[in-house]
Amino acid sequence: MGFKGIVISTLLSLFVGVAPQSTGLAPKKFLSLPLGAVKPSGWLHDQLLVQANGLAGHEHDFYDYVAQSDWIGGDSYYSNLEEAGSYWFNGMAPTGVLLNDATIQNQTRQFLDYVLDHQDSDGWLGPEVGTTKPRYLWGRYPFFFGAIQMVEADPSLTDRVVTALHNFTSLANTMLHQGQGVEDWAKTRWEDYVMALQWLYDFHPNGKEDILIDTMKMLKWTGDPWELVFANASFPKGPVEHLSNPFPVLTWHGVNMAEGLKALPSTYRFTHNQSDLDAASLGWDLLFQYHGRPSGIYAADEYLAGLEAVRGAELCLVVETMFSGSYLYQVIGDPKFADRVERITYNALPATLTGGEYLRFEPAVHVLTTRLRLSFVDMWSRQYLQQQNQIAAQNMSPNPFPEDGPYSNVFGLEPNYPCCTVNHPQGWPKFVSNSFVTTADQSGLVHVYLGPLSVNTTLAKGNNVTVNVETIYPFSDTVSTTVQADQAFTYYVRVPSWVSGGNFTVNGAEAKAFSPDQGTGLQAIPVSAGTTTISMNFPAEITIEQRPHGSVAVHRGPLHYAFDIPRDSTVLTKDAQEPRAQDLQFEATAEWQYAIDPSTLTFHAGSPDGGKLPSPVFDKGLSPFTITATACPVDWATAGDTFAASPPTNPNCTGSATTITLSPFGTTKLRIGEFPTFNATGPGQ
Ligand SMILES: *[C@@H]1O[C@H](CO)[C@@H](O)[C@H](O)[C@H]1NC(C)=O
Ligand SMILES: *[C@@H]1O[C@H](CO)[C@@H](O)[C@H](O)[C@H]1NC(C)=O
Ligand SMILES: *[C@@H]1O[C@H](CO)[C@@H](O)[C@H](O)[C@H]1NC(C)=O
Ligand SMILES: *[C@@H]1O[C@H](CO)[C@@H](O)[C@H](O)[C@H]1NC(C)=O
Ligand SMILES: *[C@@H]1O[C@H](CO)[C@@H](O)[C@H](O)[C@H]1NC(C)=O
Ligand SMILES: *[C@@H]1O[C@H](CO)[C@@H](O)[C@H](O)[C@H]1NC(C)=O
Ligand SMILES: *[C@@H]1O[C@H](CO)[C@@H](O)[C@H](O)[C@H]1NC(C)=O
Ligand SMILES: *[C@@H]1O[C@H](CO)[C@@H](O)[C@H](O)[C@H]1NC(C)=O
Ligand SMILES: *[C@@H]1O[C@H](CO)[C@@H](O)[C@H](O)[C@H]1NC(C)=O
Repeated sequence: MGFKGIVISTLLSLFVGVAPQSTGLAPKKFLSLPLGAVKPSGWLHDQLLVQANGLAGHEHDFYDYVAQSDWIGGDSYYSNLEEAGSYWFNGMAPTGVLLNDATIQNQTRQFLDYVLDHQDSDGWLGPEVGTTKPRYLWGRYPFFFGAIQMVEADPSLTDRVVTALHNFTSLANTMLHQGQGVEDWAKTRWEDYVMALQWLYDFHPNGKEDILIDTMKMLKWTGDPWELVFANASFPKGPVEHLSNPFPVLTWHGVNMAEGLKALPSTYRFTHNQSDLDAASLGWDLLFQYHGRPSGIYAADEYLAGLEAVRGAELCLVVETMFSGSYLYQVIGDPKFADRVERITYNALPATLTGGEYLRFEPAVHVLTTRLRLSFVDMWSRQYLQQQNQIAAQNMSPNPFPEDGPYSNVFGLEPNYPCCTVNHPQGWPKFVSNSFVTTADQSGLVHVYLGPLSVNTTLAKGNNVTVNVETIYPFSDTVSTTVQADQAFTYYVRVPSWVSGGNFTVNGAEAKAFSPDQGTGLQAIPVSAGTTTISMNFPAEITIEQRPHGSVAVHRGPLHYAFDIPRDSTVLTKDAQEPRAQDLQFEATAEWQYAIDPSTLTFHAGSPDGGKLPSPVFDKGLSPFTITATACPVDWATAGDTFAASPPTNPNCTGSATTITLSPFGTTKLRIGEFPTFNATGPGQ
């Protein structure tokens, strides 16, 4: 991965930003489409609907940090950040538009109006107006992202938002020159404001180019030096609790790093310095090489946590890394970013939220209730930290997270900290918005993340194009696309690096093997004016990833497969105002101590009843795709009472071999994802 990534980014560097210019912003390799141009359909639409019907879509009704957010008059939970309302807004602005949900759009519009209507006479935005609270810049940045998305979806809001941002920027520029506005957290997250400023520069500069660029530079040079943090020389090669950070300590904080992944690509746009892109690309590789998970994400249970399977990955960094990866892809164009975003989205994200939890069976009613799922818990509970090997989700004493509390892996309303409650809703909708981009000259359309989607946009030369993608990918290898265009153009599809032997047919003609461009990973498909149908197959082999202690992880295509540990659930608490917001404890009800023989892995491609996936799909037994393995029981200790020790290296079987089923990681809530191995046909077995 690392080596291939470096080669590709070197190849790409031949195409991007070769001739440095001294002024203006460097172009991105690909351009995002305005919010609303790409819509979810099929199971992805259902997934957003489940989220809107769950915790995310109801926070405004009952959750104090949002309903009574400091942004609209109440009390905020971080005295120095004021972030809750801002985070919520950033996720719900696209949710309301993509679902065409009038209630949510009404909520985000009220929030926008309130903030803009209360802008201070000096330009300041946010809950500090009219108070003596200190003014730190960062809490506004997610609000800026939300406001920009609302303008994209509703251009009639442009003047108000653009004027407010320019006025704020004139104040912020003065503050930065006077050494004000940044504390330790704002110093790590400067790039989010730089990106908002670049949006103004690209679309609404209004003659203020100089102050916009100067503010970008001031933010970077008053902020933390991400080009050094992500350099190999000082990058932490293991869990950081015993290392000393040569830079400010918050740079090794997981969420800051997830957001900071955008710092160097955004810097490149105003420095035109290829070294910024090289550092961004290398930093991405180092992060996953030394802290990565088979689920796609990296581990940071507050701070970077190394490779051990019981260390935690915070939900906030899951959604922030998805967003950062999309931006890295758009600036640099290296398909490794898109591959990983797709993996995180289809594995790490759904794994850490409830799907459709099962009833706790009583023997007498067992037969009647086995098929009843408690639909009211769908996406109502989330973890703070997920584990690759997670044998329980419950209060853990001791726990394996040096900087986080014992309640961190419980599924609930706000386990450990509230931030992920308000921040997680951005994950799915922004994945959808970024799943198509255009080429830099806007003549071509690129399908980046595979899944059921539709697009309606106008390309260069007024070429109106609509696209409909029908598929249950990643639970199928087949994708059917219909393109309708006023004029001929080139349609591109990303062929993920894991595809082996894929092909496509256009308008029912003979199938052709994919032959994607080596540098970009894109298959170019010329389409004519009128209607074009494209059928594509994205098959993949099962692959084995080597993990610590001689253990292995199993992949096929974008999905990582894990043993879904049978579980029992207990309701720990229910929110007083909203009983659907409950904290759930999961305990294993069966053995999980298995070694597998990697040579026996067998893929099973089922298909769902009627071709339609269940809603929601990310829970026990619901995936049509499974993998079976020959396994045997082994001695595998627990470390605390409720978390697994490291997988034993070359263990002996303690019982006879059996077959176990592995399921997509995102459908498991308790699981083993990194297994010891054994040889089912070797001596002594
Ligand atoms: C929008 O919110 C306002 C104020 O709460 C309310 O009067 C109005 O009915 C809402 N509209 C919709 C469509 O929900
Ligand atoms: C914002 O700027 C406009 C002109 O650019 C000015 O008319 C207006 O008074 C400013 N508003 C605030 C709140 O600073
Ligand atoms: C990064 O540094 C480590 C030593 O800390 C070295 O083994 C590795 O090869 C370096 N990687 C790159 C990409 O330079
Ligand atoms: C480009 O980046 C390198 C490494 O960070 C730095 O040494 C150099 O001064 C930069 N050049 C410009 C023109 O910013
Ligand atoms: C595409 O959007 C335009 C307006 O933006 C609308 O008039 C048209 O009906 C849409 N087309 C489709 C196929 O949805
Ligand atoms: C393309 O779409 C735009 C926006 O929906 C519309 O204004 C324009 O008339 C369309 N052009 C053609 C040639 O249909
Ligand atoms: C295209 O790929 C599918 C899936 O792997 C395969 O079944 C089919 O035979 C292939 N078609 C051709 C013509 O190669
Ligand atoms: C497996 O069994 C062999 C033979 O009894 C023994 O030597 C070895 O230590 C055992 N390995 C483990 C990991 O327990
Ligand atoms: C498993 O054992 C068999 C029989 O001894 C041997 O042929 C095979 O190579 C072994 N497989 C591995 C992966 O070690």
